[in-house]
Amino acid sequence: MKKVGNHTSISRILLFCVALSLCFSVSTFAQEAAAPAAAAAPAADAAAAPAGAGDPVKGKELFNANCASCHKLDAKSTGPALRGVADKHDKAWLYRWIHNSSEMIKSGDAEAVKLFADNGGVTMTAFPQLAEADIDNIMAYTSQPKEVAAAPAGGGTTAQAGGEGNGGSSNTLILGALVLVLVVLIVMLVLVNKTLRRVAAANGVVVVENEPTLPLWKAYAKNQFLVLVTVILLMLSGAYFLYGYTMQIGVDQNYQPVQPIHFSHKIHAGDNGIDCKYCHSAARVSKNSGIPSLNVCMNCHKNIAEFAGDKDSLYVDHSKEFYTGEIQKLYDAVGWDKAAQKYTGKQKPVKWVRIHNLPDFVYFNHSQHVSVAGVECQTCHGPVETFEVMKQNAPLTMGWCINCHRETDVKVEGNDYYKKIHDELAKKYGVQKLTAANMGGTECGKCHY
Ligand code: HEC
Ligand code: HEC
Ligand code: HEC
Ligand code: HEC
Ligand code: HEC
Ligand code: HEC
Repeated sequence: MKKVGNHTSISRILLFCVALSLCFSVSTFAQEAAAPAAAAAPAADAAAAPAGAGDPVKGKELFNANCASCHKLDAKSTGPALRGVADKHDKAWLYRWIHNSSEMIKSGDAEAVKLFADNGGVTMTAFPQLAEADIDNIMAYTSQPKEVAAAPAGGGTTAQAGGEGNGGSSNTLILGALVLVLVVLIVMLVLVNKTLRRVAAANGVVVVENEPTLPLWKAYAKNQFLVLVTVILLMLSGAYFLYGYTMQIGVDQNYQPVQPIHFSHKIHAGDNGIDCKYCHSAARVSKNSGIPSLNVCMNCHKNIAEFAGDKDSLYVDHSKEFYTGEIQKLYDAVGWDKAAQKYTGKQKPVKWVRIHNLPDFVYFNHSQHVSVAGVECQTCHGPVETFEVMKQNAPLTMGWCINCHRETDVKVEGNDYYKKIHDELAKKYGVQKLTAANMGGTECGKCHY
C-alpha cells in the first residue's frame, strides 16, 4: 500500500487561515482604539463658549433665579422675550428699569410707559438688590446668539450618529468577512478532496466507497425504546409549554402602550424631581391613584412652552423639537394659545390609554398600601422615575399580591391600634414579625368581592 502524502498543501491552508484570522483581530482592535478619539471631539466643541462683556454663566443663574418666572429668551411669557434686549435700550435705562420699573413708569419715561401699555399693564417686580454687575451678567446671558448655544448640541449629535454608523458598518463588515472566510474554506475543502482523489488515482490507490448502510431514520424507527423515550419527552415539553402559555393569559407585565401625548416620567419625576403625589394626589387617600387632569399640567406648562432640556443630560432621549411638539399637543388639548397667553375655549380632551387594570373581581386599594402600609410607589411600579415611556412593571397576579403579603412586615411603629394587635398576635404565634398575611392578608374575602 502506498501512502498518500499531501502535507504541503494542507499546512499551506492552515497558514493561510491563521494569517486571515490575525488580520481580523487587528482590525477589530483598531476600531476600538478609534472610538474614544471620536468621543473626545464633541467635548472639545462644548468647551468653546462665547465670550462677552459680563459673565453669561453667572447671568444664566441669576436669570433663572429671578427672571425666568416671567421671561423667556425667545418667546413671550408674562413679560416680553429678552434675547437681544440689551441692544434695544441703553445701559443706564436698563439699570433703572430693572431696579424699579414702576417708578420709571410713574416718572413718565416715554419708553417705559409705552412698554407698560404694550404688555397690558402688567407690573414687573422691582429688583433693587441686583448690583449693576449682576445686571451686566444677565444682559450678557440674554445677548448670547441663539445659534451659538445650539451649535455644540448639533455637533454632538452628528458626531454621535457618525459613531453609531461606524459601529453598525464595522459589524456588517466583520460578518461579511466571516462569511467570506467560510466560503473560502468550503471551496478549499472541495479542492483538497479533488486533489487527494487525483493523487490517489495517479498512484493507483483504489478509493473504497462505503457500503450502503441502513438509513438513520429506519434504524431509529426499529428501536422501540428510543421511540418511547422520544414520545415521553415530547409530551413533557408540550405540557410544560402549554402550562407556561396558560399561566401568562391575562398577565400583561411590561405592557407599554403608546400614549396620545408622549409623557416622560423620566423627565418629570426623574430629572425635574416632581413628587409622584403632586400629580397622582389621590393615591394617598383613595382606592385609585388616578391620572392628573390637564389643569394640573397647566400649573407648570403655562410657563414651560418649549423643551430646553440640557443636551448633556442623560434624561433626554428625543430631540428638543419632538418634546416641544408634545407640549404643543397639551396646549391644543386644553385650548391654550401660547402667543396670546390665554385660553381659547376650544378643548379636545386627551384619552390616556389605561395600563394597569386588575380584573373586576379583585379589590385593591392604594391608600391602604401607600398611606397605611407605607409601601413606596416604586416597590410595585418599578423605577418609574427612569421610565421614558410608562409600562406595567409588576405581573399583578394573585401570587404576586400574596407573596408580598407573606413577606412584608406591617408598620406597627407609631400606631397604637397595630401595636396592640401585634403584641397579642406575637404572643399567640410566638413570633416577633407581624406580616400582612398574619393579619389576614391571604384571606380570599379581603381581595375578592
Ligand atoms: C413678575 C414678572 C416679572 C419678573 C420677575 C421680571 N420681569 Fe421683566 N418684565 C415684566 C413685564 C410684564 C415687562 C413688560 C413691561 C411691563 O409691563 O412693565 C417686563 C419688561 C422687561 C424688560 C424690557 C423688555 C423690552 O422688550 O424692552 C427688561 C429688560 C426686563 N423686563 C428685564 C427683567 C430682568 C433682568 C428680570 C430679572 C432680574 C426681570 N425682568 C424679571 C415682568 C417681569
Ligand atoms: C407631572 C405629573 C406626573 C408625575 C410627577 C408622575 N406622574 Fe405618573 N402619570 C402621569 C400621567 C399624565 C400618566 C398617564 C400617561 C402615561 O401613562 O404615561 C401617568 C401614568 C402613571 C402610571 C400608569 C397608569 C396606568 O394607566 O395604569 C403609573 C403607575 C404612574 N404614573 C406612577 C407614577 C409614579 C410612581 C410617579 C413618581 C415616581 C409618577 N407617576 C409621577 C403624570 C405624572
Ligand atoms: C410641576 C411642574 C410640571 C407639571 C405639573 C407638568 N409638567 Fe410637563 N414638564 C415640566 C418640566 C420642568 C419639563 C421639562 C422642560 C425642559 O426641560 O425644558 C416638562 C416637559 C414636558 C413635556 C416634554 C417632555 C416629555 O415628557 O415628553 C411634555 C410633553 C409635558 N411636559 C407634558 C406634561 C403633561 C401632559 C402634564 C400633565 C399630566 C405635565 N407635563 C405636567 C414640568 C411640569
Ligand atoms: C402595593 C402595590 C402598589 C403600590 C405601593 C402603588 N401602586 Fe399604583 N397600582 C397598583 C395596582 C395593583 C394597580 C392597578 C389597580 C387597578 O387596576 O384597580 C395600580 C394602579 C395605579 C395607577 C393607575 C390608575 C389607578 O388608580 O388604577 C396609577 C396612576 C398608580 N397606580 C400610581 C401609583 C402611585 C403614584 C403610587 C405611590 C404613591 C402607587 N401607585 C403605589 C399597585 C400599587
Ligand atoms: C409590596 C407589597 C405588597 C403588594 C405587592 C401587595 N400588597 Fe396588599 N398589603 C401590603 C401590606 C404591607 C398590607 C398591610 C397594610 C396594613 O398595615 O394594614 C397590605 C394590605 C392589603 C389589604 C388589606 C388587608 C387587611 O388585612 O385588611 C388588601 C385587601 C390588599 N393588601 C390587597 C392587595 C392586592 C389585591 C394586591 C395585588 C394586586 C396587593 N395587596 C399587593 C403589601 C402589599
Ligand atoms: C392579596 C389578594 C388576594 C387574595 C388574598 C386572594 N386573591 Fe385570588 N386573585 C387576586 C388577584 C390580584 C387575582 C387576579 C390575577 C390575574 O388577573 O392574573 C386573583 C384571581 C383569582 C382567581 C381567578 C383565576 C386567576 O388566576 O386569574 C381565582 C379563582 C381566585 N383568585 C381565587 C382565590 C381564592 C380561592 C382565594 C383564597 C384562598 C384568593 N383568591 C385569595 C388576589 C387575591
